[in-house]
Parts: sequence; structure tokens; C-alpha cells
Amino acid sequence: MTVVAVLNYKGGVGKTTMTANLGAEIANRGRKVLLIDLDPQASLTFSFYRPDEWDPDRTILRWYESYIMSGAAKNLEELVLTPPRVNAALERGRLDLISSDLRLVDVELDLAHGLGGARYQTFNPHYLRVYRLLADALAGKAFEEYDVILMDCAPNFNMVTRTAVVASQHILVPAKADYLSTLGIDYLRTRLSQLVDEYDRVAGSNPAVAINPVILGVVFTMVQYAGAGLMVKLQGYINGLKDIEVPVFRHTLRESKAVFADPGEHGIPAVLSRQTTENVEYDLHQITNEFLSLIRV
Ligand SMILES: Nc1ncnc2c1ncn2[C@@H]1O[C@H](COP(=O)(O)OP(=O)(O)O)[C@@H](O)[C@H]1O
Ligand SMILES: [Mg+2]
Repeated sequence: MTVVAVLNYKGGVGKTTMTANLGAEIANRGRKVLLIDLDPQASLTFSFYRPDEWDPDRTILRWYESYIMSGAAKNLEELVLTPPRVNAALERGRLDLISSDLRLVDVELDLAHGLGGARYQTFNPHYLRVYRLLADALAGKAFEEYDVILMDCAPNFNMVTRTAVVASQHILVPAKADYLSTLGIDYLRTRLSQLVDEYDRVAGSNPAVAINPVILGVVFTMVQYAGAGLMVKLQGYINGLKDIEVPVFRHTLRESKAVFADPGEHGIPAVLSRQTTENVEYDLHQITNEFLSLIRV
């Protein structure tokens, strides 16, 4: 079982699109995949469910809340859903989802407050308990059956995102090929290593809880191929990241307004949808191949 956080400081860079498509394609190759929507915007959730189908009592919010209110989180597996439309479209495999809720933003404050403010967190006796909430839950028997768990994170580095990082072996960073996005990636890397250092200091010499989440790679999304100048720019951003030793996926996802702007067959990611173009399907297949070989699944 491999746990991957899909993370970028910026919103609108294609994180959710990548999570849904990667998850669906891996499942379609015969694997069991779990997606966890950790973004209060809940776009991953609503790419599989219509708002009237969404059950507010079965979301990740309920799970964090149970910890905040009683000091013991309820069973995470009770929240696992199997979205019907995408699963009907799968030839094999299974795609499960733990959905999100807009009110997850409030949980951030409660979790941070419970630890006594950012600067003092590491002195709090519950630090490891809170930071390991997701890690410990995903280590439970119920999750052993999954080959891959992908967590779609909010574009921030708040408590919920931190619990995701602590639970992950790998971090996948979808990014747009523009100057600001690549700057943000260097900063993201710094914040990741600060978190790991801080966490390891608190965990001390206990190898059972040591963490080592590594950046699997930056995968460029919404890439425009029109015009030679754009390709030169893309290569420039790729080289810039390589210079600072951030791994970059060889394959990219092209921009396609036709495929992604149209809600199309609701509940079925582009990679499995009949409305996809050959080119987009090709990109998504190649990215999936690369992803699976990097995580060695
Ligand atoms: N390759 C693409 N080409 C065109 N539009 C895309 C592409 N990938 C994503 N989008 C669109 O861009 C918007 C933001 O994507 P999303 O995956 O929600 O980003 P994030 O999760 O990072 O906020 C959405 O409307 C989505 O449909
Ligand atoms: Mg998103």
C-alpha cells in the first residue's frame, strides 16, 4: 500500500483533475485505489457525486470532528464510499472515496488551537497524536487492501495538509508551467523539510513513527503546445526545477478546454470518458505509467 499526497500551494493548477484521473486509470488497470478529499472546496468529491447525492454525515470532516470532540477519532473506514458511476465505467479494479465538506476549514483552527498555537506546538504532549491522526488511521487493517491511496490536499500547509504529509510516503506536485508556480515549488519543498525536521525532533529516536515523505515529482499540467516559444518556456521551467534538484515527470498533461471545461459525463474522469481526445488520453496514460513505476506498484 502506497500513500501519496497530491499537493501544491497554488489552487487551480490541476491537482484535483490529476488525482481523479490518476486514481481512475490506476483502478482501471485492476488495482484498488482510495482517494481522500482533504480540500474544503471538495471539488474531488463533487467530481464523483452530484451535490444532491452527497452525504454530509459521511465525510472526512466528521472524522476530524470526532477526534476534536472526544479525543478519539472514529473508524475512518466507516467513511469510505464507492462512487457508482465511475465504478460502473471501470473494466476492473475499484475506486473508493472519502469525501470532503466545506466546513473542513473550521477543523483547521480547532486542530491548531488544540496544540496551542503554531510556535508552541512541538511542546504539546499531543503533538504526535494529532500529526499522526491520518497516518495511524491508514495503518489500520481496513486499508491494507488498497494498492494506492491518493490524497487531494488543499492549497495550503495547514494542519489537515500536515496530517496528510505525515501519512505519506510520496508527494506528487501538479503545477502549471509559469514562473510563479515554479517559485512556489521551491518554497513548498522548504516547508516540507521544515515539517519533517520538526516532526522528527518530537518523535525523537522512535523509529516506529519516523517519517520520510519524498517529492515523487512535479507533473506539469495544462501545458500549451501551440507555438514554439511556449515549448521553450516549458523547457526553461523544467530545467529550473532540475537545477534545484526537484524531480520532474517526463510526461505532461496538455491543456484541453474541450475535455476539461465540459462537465461531460458527470462522475467519470476524463481518462475513462468517451468524450476524451486521443491526445489527452495518451498524456494521462503516460503519466500513470510513470507514476506507477516511480512508486513501484
Ligand atoms: N489539462 C487541462 N486543460 C484544461 N483545463 C484543465 C486541465 N486540468 C484542469 N483543468 C481545469 O482547470 C480548473 C482547475 O483544475 P483543478 O484540477 O480543479 O485544480 P486544483 O485542484 O489545483 O485547484 C478546473 O476547471 C479544471 O477543469
Ligand atoms: Mg482542487
